[in-house]
Amino acid sequence: MNVFGIVVAAGSGERFGQPKANVELAGRPLWRWAVDALESGGCDHVVVVGPVPGGIAGGVRRRDSVAAGLAAAPEGATHVLVHDAARPLASAALVRQVIDRLAIGGTDGVVPGLAVRDTLKRVQDGVVILTVDRADLVIAQTPQGFVIEALVRAHAFDDDDATDDAALVERSGGTVVIVSGGDHNLKVTYPADLVVAEALMP
Ligand code: C5P
Repeated sequence: MNVFGIVVAAGSGERFGQPKANVELAGRPLWRWAVDALESGGCDHVVVVGPVPGGIAGGVRRRDSVAAGLAAAPEGATHVLVHDAARPLASAALVRQVIDRLAIGGTDGVVPGLAVRDTLKRVQDGVVILTVDRADLVIAQTPQGFVIEALVRAHAFDDDDATDDAALVERSGGTVVIVSGGDHNLKVTYPADLVVAEALMP
């Protein structure tokens, strides 16, 4: 098994108010925390896609940035983990859990998921049309791991955007399984999330 890691950090940070990759948490940029998690969790080689030292140029859509990372995969990589730079609190243990599940085999992808705590409602024009049963829903996190050919195939299969990589693999007919996500593995989306991330740091 040879695991390649991609940290995507090329977003425009529209909701945050500025690109997030170089925003600092406890004195280090977000992308650096993400790289450290992948490296200490067992990735053999990690690239960053985004405006960081040594980074690869990203694309307009998230999936384009992932494709740019995939194009830089070293020869011999058998698996790939894709991780958002916006998730600086993913632990090495979580990364290891994703890799260990891939090692067992029998799946194209592995996604860390958390149970939904809140009640979910489908709404149209401000009116609730359905209260959704949350029992079979999970909140998908990164790092998401894949058999590298499955993710490459998924990228060739369709050209629609997706908010995560597993969605592409699912749409191409691949199997994706869930492992337990990290309780503290929040995604920095709005400025207030940085304050929460700082408070949650180990
Ligand atoms: O936009 P969103 O918060 O879903 O982005 C998740 C991750 O994907 C972020 O780390 C962001 O930098 C990255 N991204 C990217 N290229 C894009 C859009 C998002 O690398 N075009």
